Amino acid sequence: MSAREPIARNRVEVMHGVNLDQLGRRDPGKYGSLTLPELEREVSEWARELGLNTRYFQTNHEGDFVEHLHRLEGMADALILNPGAWTHYAWAIRDALEIAGLPAIEVHLSAVGEREEWRRESVIRPLCLATVAGQGVEGYRAALEQIREELVV
Ligand code: DQA
Repeated sequence: MSAREPIARNRVEVMHGVNLDQLGRRDPGKYGSLTLPELEREVSEWARELGLNTRYFQTNHEGDFVEHLHRLEGMADALILNPGAWTHYAWAIRDALEIAGLPAIEVHLSAVGEREEWRRESVIRPLCLATVAGQGVEGYRAALEQIREELVV
């Protein structure tokens, strides 16, 4: 690589929150039938096609999710976040996302805007470049495409 070539910004951290480790057992009508490892394999493949590198993190513990966001400085160029139910009320995650300061896309497998009233609120949406919901696993591909446009000059 010559000194003048731009440094590739292609590291995407894909973070899943509470209960998303249970995909495959959850209502397939809302969340699809893939398990989380299967979903991650699919997303990795799409990322590879787009020239992006993905890393994955899932936890059921809000503090771990917050601390993972704290640790991303210098480790990631963009984020895809599906915090599960935390999306709707976890202000500490919203604040940690602000600290991380990375371009982020919010993804939900289900159509959160068309379900219960409480799922319409997202505390992270104002900090995200975009929200993708109701497209199942394909929503992650849409998020990767948007990130690629954002990162690759
Ligand atoms: C979800 C939607 C949330 O409302 C729900 O609590 C989840 C999953 C989704 O991907 O559709 O756990 O984030």
